[in-house]
Amino acid sequence: MTADAEPHDSKGHPGPGAQAAPAPPRLSGVPADRRRAIVVGASSGIGAALVRQLAAEGYRVAALARRRAELDELAASCADAAARAGGAVIVREHDVTDTDAIPALFEDLVRELGGLDLFVFAAGIMPKRGPEEYDTESDLAMIAVNLAGCIAWCNPTANFLRTQRSGTLVGISSVAGDRGRKANPVYGTTKAGMNHYLEALRNRLGESGVHVCTIKPGFIDTAMTKDLDSKPFMISAERAAAAILRAARGRANTRYVARIWFWVMTVIRCIPSFLFRKLNI
Ligand SMILES: NC(=O)c1ccc[n+]([C@@H]2O[C@H](COP(=O)([O-])OP(=O)(O)OC[C@H]3O[C@@H](n4cnc5c(N)ncnc54)[C@H](OP(=O)(O)O)[C@@H]3O)[C@@H](O)[C@H]2O)c1
Repeated sequence: MTADAEPHDSKGHPGPGAQAAPAPPRLSGVPADRRRAIVVGASSGIGAALVRQLAAEGYRVAALARRRAELDELAASCADAAARAGGAVIVREHDVTDTDAIPALFEDLVRELGGLDLFVFAAGIMPKRGPEEYDTESDLAMIAVNLAGCIAWCNPTANFLRTQRSGTLVGISSVAGDRGRKANPVYGTTKAGMNHYLEALRNRLGESGVHVCTIKPGFIDTAMTKDLDSKPFMISAERAAAAILRAARGRANTRYVARIWFWVMTVIRCIPSFLFRKLNI
């Protein structure tokens, strides 16, 4: 049942018998011919929540990741809402470390979507690290997905959007890129690298009308955080996705999600190094 089907009073407010219904997806106000998106890293968590939200807003969305079954399930769960709003979800099994495949895949997707207005790189991994663990193979694998994968997708995207002189490119980075935390040095390094790269891309593309938005999530309730002991200010993937789309549409350069992390990280960035190294944050 939609919110509109609940009992309402004469002013259109929910009547006393009304259940608190989940709010319907807010329509974005984006014109129908500008609703074409690619989400890389879409089989779970933040990427999947973005696909659900975009599909319900009538976007034609391409959802990419390695796990085909999860992608198919996501597309099936979005199909009705997408069809009602005039959108669709197409899925592609893809590993972002297969960088040679990306240019042709990008072209195929843009052709199938009929253009591109929004690109989101949400793929990422965060293997656990013990305090005395130094594992080069695993570190390089993390760099290959989180940073090299991001660059390999953003390059053809940036070039395409630059040529059409419009569109938005979003990278899901992390608060972990703001300081050199002892817990997982290379995860933070990949995110710091993303921050630097996306800022440079934003500056490069600024003249062409293309916007680049860096998202720095704090804790989001996804598979990535399920084994963490402490998760302050955690929000759902759905809330994160809504905040990410608001930031992208508002042409934010950098947006902390949830917003409280702007203040938290402002403080953390000010902690002097000699003190920071004593903290377990
Ligand atoms: N959750 C948080 O608290 C949090 C906080 C800060 C930043 N982030 C960032 O947010 C992004 C999304 O993470 P999440 O929390 O939504 O976690 P998640 O549920 O584990 O999602 C990660 C996504 O990345 C995809 N992925 C991983 N390796 C891939 C590869 N080689 N090729 C293609 N896709 C790949 C996964 O799909 P497959 O496994 O099917 O390939 C999955 O769709 C990540 O970049 C993460 O670093 C998350």
